[in-house]
Amino acid sequence: MKARSSLVARRGDFRAVVLYNRRIGARNYRIALRLPAEAVAAFVGFQPGQFLEVNLSQTALPPTEAVPADLADKTDRQILLRRPFSLSDLANESGGLVAELTYCVVGPATLRMTTLREGDSLQVLGPLGHGFDVPDGLRWAILVAGGMGAPPIQHLASILTRDHPSIKPIGFAGAKTADALPFETSPSDPRSPCLSALGLEWHVATDDGSWGRRGFVTQCLQTWLASHPHQDRGATGIYACGPEPMLAKVAQIAQAHGIACQVSMERRMACGFGVCQGCAVQCRSDDAAGPYRLCCQDGPVFNAKEVVFEA
Ligand SMILES: Cc1cc2nc3c(=O)[nH]c(=O)nc-3n(C[C@H](O)[C@H](O)[C@H](O)COP(=O)(O)OP(=O)(O)OC[C@H]3O[C@@H](n4cnc5c(N)ncnc54)[C@H](O)[C@@H]3O)c2cc1C
Ligand code: FES
Repeated sequence: MKARSSLVARRGDFRAVVLYNRRIGARNYRIALRLPAEAVAAFVGFQPGQFLEVNLSQTALPPTEAVPADLADKTDRQILLRRPFSLSDLANESGGLVAELTYCVVGPATLRMTTLREGDSLQVLGPLGHGFDVPDGLRWAILVAGGMGAPPIQHLASILTRDHPSIKPIGFAGAKTADALPFETSPSDPRSPCLSALGLEWHVATDDGSWGRRGFVTQCLQTWLASHPHQDRGATGIYACGPEPMLAKVAQIAQAHGIACQVSMERRMACGFGVCQGCAVQCRSDDAAGPYRLCCQDGPVFNAKEVVFEA
């Protein structure tokens, strides 16, 4: 892994301006934020999988009729804490850095996020944590996204395609239903997600079969690995982000095939940078359950072999 402490030290608290905030599914949105010029230095060496803490405390709620029924009783909750979001893209444009987030509306903060419009501004803290590492000698990168785990995987796919032409990425994406897959699709082909636009071979699974294969994305991964027995496992890496049971299964599959695996973990985060100690991930040392590490600071990306997954 790269020198991690130097990345952490460069974070900043920036005023970001909204460029767009568009709906890409029933509950999924994509928002682009222009960061100020001074953010450029903080993002040098940015790794996909690092995240921003977004302050939504001053952001307005949508009108009552736009609040989904299952969230109606959440609207009066104050937003005291910033919320963590991975980046789904980061572009260095002539006017500065543009960070793109992809989010799912699940509670009071993400509900407020939907009301942001072009020209609105908000505070973001970052970049935080440690992201995916791309080791020298890697030839194949197997990318596995479950539900809202897709944003950092999508970003990693773009970086690999753009900056690492010698690495072949292969994408796997899964969710409960087609609607829960947070990908924009081509207007001419509603079954063509943006991962295809990157020229990626990719495989999709949904629990109900509404998009791709019916079942879990980990089944697709197992089938694919079984049909590629001669692939050089030592030059292959698996990168995964999604619900913890999915990550546990991916880690198990990777170990069975002798493939290195990095997983992006999720914990509720109060501070986002190591102060509150509230985001512990149990790790193992020498194959025994060992010390706790901080998801926000030591992760969110961990070597899958180190993690003791919660049942
Ligand atoms: C490193 C990191 C990166 C993330 N990246 C994204 C992203 O790219 N897109 C995205 O939509 N979301 C992402 N999340 C999750 C996002 O932070 C939460 O959905 C958001 O904080 C919800 O805020 P809320 O007030 O709308 O809902 P809340 O009321 O705070 O939460 C709604 C429900 O979601 C669950 N929940 C919320 N946060 C977490 C968490 N961290 N771990 C497990 N369960 C949780 C809770 O059980 C709660 O019942 C990320 C989280 C982490 C830790
Ligand atoms: S969120 Fe506070 S220590 Fe990790």
